[in-house]
Amino acid sequence: MDQLIQQAARLLRAAQQIVVMTGAGVSAESGVPTFREAQTGLWAQYDPQDLATPAAFTRNPRLVWEWYASRREIIGQSEPNAGHFALAQLEAQHGHVTVVTQNVDNLHERAGSQDVIHLHGNIMRTKCFYDCQGNPTLVDLSDPAINTDALPPLCPHCGRWLRPDVVWFGEILPARALERAMTLSEGCDVQLVVGTSGLVEPAAGLPRITKQHGGKVIVVNPDHTMHTRIADVSLRGASGEVLPQVLQAMASLA
Ligand code: OAD
Repeated sequence: MDQLIQQAARLLRAAQQIVVMTGAGVSAESGVPTFREAQTGLWAQYDPQDLATPAAFTRNPRLVWEWYASRREIIGQSEPNAGHFALAQLEAQHGHVTVVTQNVDNLHERAGSQDVIHLHGNIMRTKCFYDCQGNPTLVDLSDPAINTDALPPLCPHCGRWLRPDVVWFGEILPARALERAMTLSEGCDVQLVVGTSGLVEPAAGLPRITKQHGGKVIVVNPDHTMHTRIADVSLRGASGEVLPQVLQAMASLA
C-alpha cells in the first residue's frame, strides 16, 4: 500500500489540473449513509421508485418531502471527515483542483473546498417543483412568506409544492454543472475518484473521459468498483484514512 500511496502522490504532484470525483463513500465516515451497500445502503432499505422520482413525489408529496427532510437533518448534524479535509487541503496547496461530487450534502464546502460542482444537486436547497420563475426557482425555507405548516411547504411565488433541489431518477442533470465537469475531465492530468460505485451515468463516465484524453485515474475505495479496471492506481481503503496519507506523501516529496 505504501508504494501505491507514493505513486498516487507523485501523479498528483506532477499534475497541472486535478479533478476529484466523489460519491457517497466520501461522506460515509461522517455518518451519512451510502446508497448501494448491502444492509446499510439507502437503496437496500427503500425503493427509489417510491422516493426519488418526480412520479413518486406527485403520488405522495408529503412522504417524499419528509424523507428528504430527515436526510437533511442527518446531514445537518454531521461533520466533514478527514477525507473531506484532505481534499480541501489538496486544493489549497495545489491550486488547480475541482471537486465534482455526486453527493447532495455540503460537506466538501464545509471542509473548505472552494471549487465544487454538484452534479446531483444540493439537499440543503429548496426549489419550486414547477420552476415557476424559470429554471431552477430556488427559495429560502426560512423566508417567513413560506407556509411551512403545509407539507410539502408551498412556493411563495405560485403557491404550489416546493421540493428539494436534488436530481431524481429520470431527471436530467444541471446542464452547466455537467458541461463543466466533462470539459474538466477532458483536460485534467489526473482524476481522483473517491467513494463511488461508478454505477450511475453520466457521472460514472467522467473518469473514462479522462483516460480517453490521456490523463491518469486514481481510485480510492475499500471495494473493487466499475472504475478499478481503468485505474492507474487503486488505493483500497476508506477515504478518511487513505487521503490524509496521500497528502502526507505529497508533502514529503517536496
Ligand atoms: P453508492 O452507494 O453506489 O457507492 C458508495 C461507494 O462508496 C461504494 O463503492 C463503497 O465501497 C464506497 N465506500 C464506502 N465507504 C467508504 C469510505 N469510507 N471511503 C471510501 N469509499 C467508501 O454511492 P454513489 O456511487 O455515490 O444519485 O451513488 C451514485 C448515485 O446513486 C448517488 O449520487 C445517488 C444514487 O442514486 C442521486 O441521488 C441522483
